[in-house]
Order: sequence, then structure tokens, then C-alpha cells
Amino acid sequence: MNDKFSHLRQNYTLNSLDEKEVSASPFEQFHRWFDQAASHATIEPNAFVLSTVSKKGKPSSRTMLLKGVEDNGFVFFTNYESAKSTDMKENPQVSMLFLWLPLQRQIRIEGLVSKISNLASDEYFHSRPKESQVGAWVSPQSQIIPSREFLDERWKHFSEKFHDAPVIPRPEHWGGWRVDPTSIEFWQGRESRLHDRLKYSLDDNEWIIQRISP
Ligand SMILES: Cc1cc2nc3c(=O)[nH]c(=O)nc-3n(C[C@H](O)[C@H](O)[C@H](O)COP(=O)(O)O)c2cc1C
Repeated sequence: MNDKFSHLRQNYTLNSLDEKEVSASPFEQFHRWFDQAASHATIEPNAFVLSTVSKKGKPSSRTMLLKGVEDNGFVFFTNYESAKSTDMKENPQVSMLFLWLPLQRQIRIEGLVSKISNLASDEYFHSRPKESQVGAWVSPQSQIIPSREFLDERWKHFSEKFHDAPVIPRPEHWGGWRVDPTSIEFWQGRESRLHDRLKYSLDDNEWIIQRISP
């Protein structure tokens, strides 16, 4: 093994996770851990890795930002014509992974994704800074483009186009997705690699909690 990597070793001793102290609701438990991550000065505590699978079974992952937890669904925004959105239209099974190393914690969410309403996408789109709204028009996300100048020219074009517009319309190709989870696993690093894993799973519309071996 290459020493550069194999020498790296952390022992996890900060905390533990006990069946007796967790909430019966995985959403309540998610909010507890998220609030602690946010107050721990974790950079971008709402960043997570979204994994999708194409209809041919090819997986791919990328970092995203969580923008809301609405009616027990995890909401994020992106280009509806991007590679990830193509996957999600063809295969709604996704996973989300939050990693909060300063707290030695990880959350894994698996579930089914669906588009949020146009109204809800409009509402969030218009709450974004104007530059981000223009950016949604500029970038044909996931497409091969000829050069950086291509983006700069499109930026100039759309900035001028919307310069005097009282409201920038939301492009139809941009909006929100929500993940309705079927399982949520909370992982707390422990000593000697004997970590705590508590997994909530939907069983007949009830959340059950099971301990999983690390
Ligand atoms: C910290 C971070 C946050 C990101 N947040 C988002 C996001 O909320 N929405 C988004 O479309 N892309 C976001 N990206 C970019 C994605 O990782 C990815 O490059 C992009 O969505 C294209 O992915 P795709 O080609 O697989 O569809 C973020 C990247 C980073 C590093």
C-alpha cells in the first residue's frame, strides 16, 4: 500500500449514538444532527453527495446543497436537463449522503425522488441572488461546451437581456426535486472502528429502528 494514504488513521471518540436517546422520527433526528453540524462551524453543513443510477444501471455521484425539508421530503435544486436529472427521470431511486467529519458523523438517506411543483420552484428561484438566477439561464448544465468564453458570452447575453426586468423568469429547465426517504441511517464514529449505526426503515408506514453492525 502507498504510505501517503495508508498512514492516515483517525480514532473516533467524540460521541456515541444510543437507541434510548434518538428520536422516534428520523426527520426529528436529522434536524438535531443538522443543527449540531451547522453550529459546529462545519463548512456548508447542507452539502451532501447525491447518487443516481441511469436506466442502464450506471451509477454517478456529485455534491449538492440541501435547500429544505418539506413534508418529510428532502429538497434540492438543479437543472432538469442535467445528467443527474436525466437519471432521476429514468430511475427515481437515489441516495443522499451527508458527511460531517468534525462531528465524526455520516447520514445515509435512500428514497424515491420526484419533481416539486412549479410554484415551489418559482418561489425558491426568486429568493436567490440575481446573479444565481441569471446563472440558471446561462449554463446548459452537463453539456459539453467549446470554451470558457462560451459561458462568458452567454452571461453577457442574459445579463443584458434581464438587466431591466423587474422579475427574472425561472427557466423551465431549472427547478427542485424532493426525496421521500425509505431509509435513513445515522452513523457515529466510535473507538476501534466499532462505530454506532442506527437505521430507520419504513415498515408498513411506520419507522422502525435497527442497529447495524459497523
Ligand atoms: C459544495 C457544492 C455544492 C453544489 N451544489 C449544487 C446544487 O445545489 N445544485 C446543482 O445543480 N449543482 C450543485 N453542485 C455542482 C454539482 O456537484 C455538479 O457538478 C452539477 O450539478 C452537475 O452534475 P451532473 O452533470 O451530474 O448533473 C455543487 C457542487 C459543490 C462542490
